[in-house]
Amino acid sequence: MIQSKLPRVGTTIFTRMSTLAAAHGAINLSQGFPDFDAPEALREAMARHVMDGHNQYAPMPGVMRLREQLAAQLQRYRGVSCDPDTEITVVPGATEGIFCAVMACVRPGDEVILLDPCYDSYQPSVELAGGRAVHVPLQGPGFALDRERLQAAVSGRTRLLMINSPHNPSGGVLSREDMLYLEALVERHNLLVISDEVYEHLVFDGRAHHSALQFPALRQRSFALFSFGKTFSVTGWKTGYCIAPPALTTELRKVHQFVSFVAVTPVQLAVADFLAEHPDYPATLAAFYQRKRDLFCAALGQSRFSFTPSAGTYFQLLDYSEISREVDTALCEQWTSERGVAAIPISVFYEQPPPRQLLRFCFAKNDAVLESAAEVLCRI
Ligand SMILES: Cc1ncc(COP(=O)(O)O)c(C=O)c1O
Repeated sequence: MIQSKLPRVGTTIFTRMSTLAAAHGAINLSQGFPDFDAPEALREAMARHVMDGHNQYAPMPGVMRLREQLAAQLQRYRGVSCDPDTEITVVPGATEGIFCAVMACVRPGDEVILLDPCYDSYQPSVELAGGRAVHVPLQGPGFALDRERLQAAVSGRTRLLMINSPHNPSGGVLSREDMLYLEALVERHNLLVISDEVYEHLVFDGRAHHSALQFPALRQRSFALFSFGKTFSVTGWKTGYCIAPPALTTELRKVHQFVSFVAVTPVQLAVADFLAEHPDYPATLAAFYQRKRDLFCAALGQSRFSFTPSAGTYFQLLDYSEISREVDTALCEQWTSERGVAAIPISVFYEQPPPRQLLRFCFAKNDAVLESAAEVLCRI
């Protein structure tokens, strides 16, 4: 009989909630994907490359024309240069890139610091590498870094720190001061970093995204992960990329080439074409999603939920402590089947039970869907 290497892992909550929402015909604001389509020029380019016969393996690190566009994007948006040959690897989704980065640097017995709440793939990746996840909760209503606990969590065995900004599920964004603090911390303790920046372009109210690649000591030690799924509304194309210094990239690719070997060819060619023609497209996303956040939040004005509008991502947390004392997982299931709206319980992003009663709602949806969902939520 097989003995599970991940005994605590079941089907992810995202799959469960989406299935439940479909079964009950509920409005699905649970899983993080847009219900609108990608730009037409991108979809056309994808179709064209498939029909033109670009359907065989790409080079292992990714199509060079795409990597050149990605290096140009990094320069354009973050003012940072990188070598597309030795520092960029195109991967089949940020999740795969994160897994390969963890596998590349974590050995049995190593400790990896995760900041709770965190994306659900981090912990299993660490466990499969034989590492031990050390969870440090983010603090207070603002999900701020708890510098004291973070410092105390670092031991002689700590190998890696995993960070995520803009942050899923809280919608928080690390400030420049946070990044400077983290830079000093990882330099002092000689830690590697995985910086999950898949929502890099979704920051609101004039805020800036601070990439780990913009801070020299972080740049030297970080695997930074990005996702076309989020930037181009094509989560089903499952393609992203990792930027890391040459020595880290070499090790990442050693794993990547035996996990998936390559990312999908026509997707890479299509994104390369699209970025060459529309290099400013990512800059339009902040205003686009901010308007959706504002619409959703305004429509919830008369509800009994309390909330602070998200600073980034396409997620909004709502606090239901005035409405119910029920645990969040049970409540999400109940509201999906009985009220017709599906969300994600925040406890699934934590090792320990969360300090507050919060649900995560995805607002990457058409306006009419957001309005209908808010109507339902206002009746609760
Ligand atoms: C924080 C975070 N990281 C990574 C991913 C995964 O991105 P991809 O679909 O490119 O694997 C997601 C997707 O929901 C996410 O929210």
